Amino acid sequence: MAASIWPSLIVIFCFSTLIQSSPFFPATNRDAPGPDRGGGGDSVRVSLTRNPNYAPNGPAVYYRALKKWGMTVPGQFAGHAAQKDYGDGEVSAKNQPDDKEYLSSVGIGTPLQWVNMDFDSGSSDFWVWSPNTAGGAVGNRSIYNPGASSTAQLVPNTTWHIMYGDGSEAYGNVYNDTVSIANISIPGSMIENAQFVSMSLAQDQVLSGVAGLAYNLSSEVYPSKPTLLQSLAPLLSKNLFTVDLKWHDAGEYNFGRIDDTRIAGNDYIHYTPLLDDASFWQFNFTGFNVGGDNKWYISSWEAIADTGTTLLLLDDGICKMYYAAVPGSVYNESLFTWTYPCNSTLPDFKVGFDNGWHATIPGKYMNFTVVDMSMPGWTCMGGLQSDQGQPFSILGDIFLKAVFAVFDIDNKRVGFSSKNLN
Ligand SMILES: *[C@@H]1O[C@H](CO)[C@@H](O)[C@H](O)[C@H]1NC(C)=O
Ligand SMILES: *[C@@H]1O[C@H](CO)[C@@H](O)[C@H](O)[C@H]1NC(C)=O
Ligand SMILES: *[C@@H]1O[C@H](CO)[C@@H](O)[C@H](O)[C@H]1NC(C)=O
Ligand SMILES: *[C@@H]1O[C@H](CO)[C@@H](O)[C@H](O)[C@H]1NC(C)=O
Ligand SMILES: *[C@@H]1O[C@H](CO)[C@@H](O)[C@H](O)[C@H]1NC(C)=O
Ligand SMILES: *[C@@H]1O[C@H](CO)[C@@H](O)[C@H](O)[C@H]1NC(C)=O
Ligand SMILES: *[C@@H]1O[C@H](CO)[C@@H](O)[C@H](O)[C@H]1NC(C)=O
Ligand SMILES: *[C@@H]1O[C@H](CO)[C@@H](O)[C@H](O)[C@H]1NC(C)=O
Ligand SMILES: *[C@@H]1O[C@H](CO)[C@@H](O)[C@H](O)[C@H]1NC(C)=O
Repeated sequence: MAASIWPSLIVIFCFSTLIQSSPFFPATNRDAPGPDRGGGGDSVRVSLTRNPNYAPNGPAVYYRALKKWGMTVPGQFAGHAAQKDYGDGEVSAKNQPDDKEYLSSVGIGTPLQWVNMDFDSGSSDFWVWSPNTAGGAVGNRSIYNPGASSTAQLVPNTTWHIMYGDGSEAYGNVYNDTVSIANISIPGSMIENAQFVSMSLAQDQVLSGVAGLAYNLSSEVYPSKPTLLQSLAPLLSKNLFTVDLKWHDAGEYNFGRIDDTRIAGNDYIHYTPLLDDASFWQFNFTGFNVGGDNKWYISSWEAIADTGTTLLLLDDGICKMYYAAVPGSVYNESLFTWTYPCNSTLPDFKVGFDNGWHATIPGKYMNFTVVDMSMPGWTCMGGLQSDQGQPFSILGDIFLKAVFAVFDIDNKRVGFSSKNLN
């Protein structure tokens, strides 16, 4: 599909000042501001901190994302060497944190035990390190000890097992216990207690576990049990959550309410329906523009909004068009990664939707990290990389940092607005 969309691609030439009101992105064709702008209810905020210690090299972050989504990992990085050298983020921390991961403090049990969870809109399991975890070193991370919680109950004959594309895995048993996200208390949550994690998963020494928030995807718990989103739904005044990630700064998740102070100026939330059988936060985007260019490319691309993926993974052809506008850029054939001199100027990248709105990702957000310091001026890696031919795109943190995002469960849609950027 990714390749076959190109014959149907329509190119619209327009002056950039007219883009806002071009026939394909009409300023008037927008959802009217309605009850979804703001609204009462419990505001539950979770501060996000960028993880300062999690610093695998840039390409490792890319291969990991490809593996998560079952995308082809090219060349030698698909093999064993990849896992050792790049695939699992084991390579040492030469570079900066560069927004590779965001962690939130979540409480579990009675009294609450605070752990650092990665909210992941691209998966559905809520799994956590515990004193029972074998394989990966517990290290210095905060963990959940069911034995120290008066409300923890082992769920009998229930197990979970997650296998990742690179062959690493985690599995264990399941506890029924209270989860507290800011001040929403969720009794009867299913806590997937890790009895084993692969060594490669333990490299991130701060992460306590993952809190999956995929739209309608079963967890890997057997027999099937409610997911965090299912347990959370009855407790929210509106069955939605919002994501406000920041460039090089802590962001915020908000459960149950849209905080309209996060929306820029006179803008409002522009909604896009999820695909019919969506299990992820899956929808179409329908156009793109490379800043400084007067062309909008119009077609339809399936995309998944994923807070748990650092990068923006798009069709190969889109990557080529973007990097054609980046001075000195090359597709590094040994890293399978788009790179450029760190002092290049990156153009803005715009993503258009059928509802008439488009997101603008500022050029500096399109930059990801330094990959090579041996050249004068250094070599950097872009936040936009190829989806390696997979028929869907991943709108990860590079995209999400540029928008205020609403993940609306009851209305089966995502909404985006512009926000004040740093
Ligand atoms: C907790 O709930 C109260 C009342 O609903 C709200 O005002 C407050 O902002 C919430 N605190 C957090 C940290 O979300
Ligand atoms: C472990 O965590 C504590 C508290 O966050 C911190 O003070 C300490 O430096 C950490 N130790 C290591 C080895 O990272
Ligand atoms: C758990 O499985 C064991 C062995 O199959 C069985 O004897 C037991 O009744 C099961 N317990 C529950 C609560 O289902
Ligand atoms: C969790 O425990 C509570 C209290 O014992 C119980 O009401 C609930 O059914 C349990 N949930 C699951 C999914 O087992
Ligand atoms: C969620 O998924 C289940 C199982 O795939 C399906 O039966 C159900 O209709 C889906 N619900 C929504 C709201 O999409
Ligand atoms: C998404 O795009 C596909 C292919 O163009 C189309 O068949 C489908 O109806 C679209 N779905 C939505 C919800 O817009
Ligand atoms: C590709 O990356 C490798 C490793 O950083 C580097 O040695 C090589 O020079 C790069 N090739 C190009 C064409 O930039
Ligand atoms: C990209 O990020 C790196 C590391 O933060 C920085 O050194 C470099 O100057 C940035 N380059 C651009 C073009 O933003
Ligand atoms: C980028 O750095 C290189 C090497 O230091 C230098 O030759 C080049 O002129 C610089 N380019 C810009 C646009 O500053």
